[in-house]
Amino acid sequence: MAPSISVALLLFAVVVAAPWLVQPSSAAAFSFPPIFPCIPGFPRIPLFPCVEPPPLPAPPTECRSHLMKMMPCAGYLTNSSVTVPPSACCDGFSQVSADLAAICFCHIANGDIQQLLPAPMIFKRMLAITDQCGVNLRMEALVQHCDEFEGVPPMTLPSPPPSAA
Ligand SMILES: *[C@@H]1O[C@H](CO)[C@@H](O)[C@H](O)[C@H]1NC(C)=O
Repeated sequence: MAPSISVALLLFAVVVAAPWLVQPSSAAAFSFPPIFPCIPGFPRIPLFPCVEPPPLPAPPTECRSHLMKMMPCAGYLTNSSVTVPPSACCDGFSQVSADLAAICFCHIANGDIQQLLPAPMIFKRMLAITDQCGVNLRMEALVQHCDEFEGVPPMTLPSPPPSAA
């Protein structure tokens, strides 16, 4: 609603008002200060530079590099003598979410994270880690539902095919 009105106003301004505002000789040098946010998918308008929004992190293409940030959790996840995850573990957990890679937690729920761990993962620890870290996520729910999600990135990208020589 509102964006389309601003688009219409911008178009009106460019088509109708700009020729009056801008002398032809100075057209190349002049431009209005960027005050409007850029509209994704909408062509940039000459003379009306828009403010580019800060880029979002790209969606993950693989999960290994994200889950590696949780390796401080390895002792807690595998060693029954370690009863509390260290803060570096919980920091790593938060970082994966902050990188918008929380979908990668499915590789914890389905056990793929075992590839990164030095010893067998203790299942109860995996279920408890979110509570222990104060992360608002139910690992049980992930365990039950992750196999229904489409688009969970692979743990590792497939290696490129050998180049045909
Ligand atoms: C398990 O943790 C305890 C306490 O931190 C430590 O002493 C022990 O070496 C650990 N065991 C293994 C196999 O890492």
